[in-house]
Amino acid sequence: MSDEKRYPVPESFRQRALMDKALYQEWYRASIEDPDTFWAARAQEFLHWSKPWDKVRDGDFAQGTAAWFVGGELNASYNCIDRHLPERADQTAIIWEGDEPDDSRHITYAELHEQVSKLANVLKQRGVKKGDRVCIYMPMIPEAAYAMLACARIGAAHSVVFGGFSPEALKDRILNAEASAVITADEGVRGGRNVPLKTNADKALAGCDSVHTCVVVRRTGADVAWDDKRDLWYHEAVATASADCPPEPMGAEDPLFILYTSGSTGKPKGVLHTTGGYLLSTALTHKYVFDYQDGDIFWCTADVGWVTGHSYIVYGPLANGATTLMFEGVPTYPDASRFWNVVDKHKVNIFYTAPTAIRALMGLGDEAVTKTDRSSLRLLGTVGEPINPEAWEWYHRVVGDSRCPIVDTWWQTETGSILIAPIPGATETKPGSATLPLFGVQLGLLDPNDKELDGAAAGNLIIKSSWPSQIRGVYGDHARMLETYFATPKGVYFTGDGARRDEDGYYWITGRVDDVLNISGHRMGTAEIESALVLHEAVAEAAVVGYPHDIKGQGVYAYVDLMAGFEPSDALAAELRDFVGKEIGAIAKPDMIQFTPALPKTRSGKIMRRILRKIACNELDNLGDTSTLADPSVVEQLIEERLNR
Ligand code: WTA
Repeated sequence: MSDEKRYPVPESFRQRALMDKALYQEWYRASIEDPDTFWAARAQEFLHWSKPWDKVRDGDFAQGTAAWFVGGELNASYNCIDRHLPERADQTAIIWEGDEPDDSRHITYAELHEQVSKLANVLKQRGVKKGDRVCIYMPMIPEAAYAMLACARIGAAHSVVFGGFSPEALKDRILNAEASAVITADEGVRGGRNVPLKTNADKALAGCDSVHTCVVVRRTGADVAWDDKRDLWYHEAVATASADCPPEPMGAEDPLFILYTSGSTGKPKGVLHTTGGYLLSTALTHKYVFDYQDGDIFWCTADVGWVTGHSYIVYGPLANGATTLMFEGVPTYPDASRFWNVVDKHKVNIFYTAPTAIRALMGLGDEAVTKTDRSSLRLLGTVGEPINPEAWEWYHRVVGDSRCPIVDTWWQTETGSILIAPIPGATETKPGSATLPLFGVQLGLLDPNDKELDGAAAGNLIIKSSWPSQIRGVYGDHARMLETYFATPKGVYFTGDGARRDEDGYYWITGRVDDVLNISGHRMGTAEIESALVLHEAVAEAAVVGYPHDIKGQGVYAYVDLMAGFEPSDALAAELRDFVGKEIGAIAKPDMIQFTPALPKTRSGKIMRRILRKIACNELDNLGDTSTLADPSVVEQLIEERLNR
């Protein structure tokens, strides 16, 4: 489209940027033509290895296997902390901004070293060892980062579970990972409200025999139940722990963490990431996509419960010796200026958030932004969902005072790090496009018959060869890994996203092509919400689809068929919403519930989701072929009573 708006790299930005267009192109070419040489050089440059690798790359997409820096040894905690100490002991590693605007702390690299080493020793004393799994269920407090790094230090894989998840969801994840310890807090605090984390953990742990230890951070001082054998207070345990804990040498391919994410079917999958490749890719992308330079203050607003928090609050920035800001609160508490007040308070240079937050703040008016200074900002970023050009323009003009480039970064829990994004000193941007692939990333588009498309085209987005931070497995289920990502078609990685490539080779992500929803940038499987709904005694059958939502990107639309003896009502709809909230977490609550006496099914009994999706999206002109329906009249009634008009 020739009428697309384009934003060239601002001259003032280009002059001081780390990478210009020529260098980006040179590196990209080198990374494709001779990946081994390219990645070996980067791995030397970015990380400290206690033992060099024998082989840069190994594995085979057709088998769903990948390995990087085979035979090499390193420790992620050492790389994120110890090796910076000679130069950065007194530099702030983490700026913590609490929920209340007068509550903040600076943690230096020396303090980070001490805290992480002490907690690592506490875990060791409790018998947690290399190869174990530790579940972290925490609010956004520095101890969450200490916990991740303490696990990495002793070689235990962490599994961080978002603090907004329910006891049920937490239990599933603990059981699947067979975690031996849990680290949590008495309560979390968000937007002035307290979240009962320890109480939730207690409920979850009632069904988890593998867990022998629960470390509890005192955040609010709330009264909590206590199991003397299992529970210990964090502050008491670290008070007597030694601050000397030598980092465990880890193989490059030893697990660093598991992170559960939603797929099209079944329960969430434990995406497994390993040590060397993950750390390299997060460090490299943090430096070049965000043009991170010494002394910059970097703020990623994600929660550490999601991959964005793992890669761009903790591992990427700390591997680079950066100062990373961690925010406990929400964008609108105490008011809609909070983000920008925090930017001014801590002189943030690089700000990275989700389109859903941008859209919500855009709706609250310019003044909350323009009354703040924001002159420290140099670069803005987005992640998690497609950004509509209108929100992009507002972010650029109002938040960035038309001065800051925007990097729209596409990636996934499975990719570990950003794979498609502008390099801000190199790439002209177009609002709504994540632009071009990063180093070593070979993208492709497939038509519905899995035939690869050339030139400007739209199709299913695939990746054709391995990159260092790619998913290494679905925890405990390699067959699922193979079948989800590498089977259709065989030999390439299937992203689950649709995309368009324009005549400049720019990519425009159009959203998921499978049954995964993206609600406010959070992934949620329709199957998970359906499973939760049918657990309710009133529900016979449920089908869940997404529909476009102005703020959340996608909303959850549930069609519910009730058991005999139950009548549709607003009260029952509200009850079902809360029920889903209790089963999974507030993010999964349906926005709309349409009661229906029947769901449209094929004669073989398969629910026709395509039709349900169209009705929920209010796209009634083109419902497609309905001739295979067992009872076509069902559709008419669904349309008649649809909620989203
Ligand atoms: C979507 C979050 C458009 C996409 C890092 C992907 C995006 C899913 C973008 C992964 C973007 C992420 N533009 N869509 N810049 N970034 N997505 O695993 O659908 O929570 O498949 O990882 O978010 O979500 P996940």
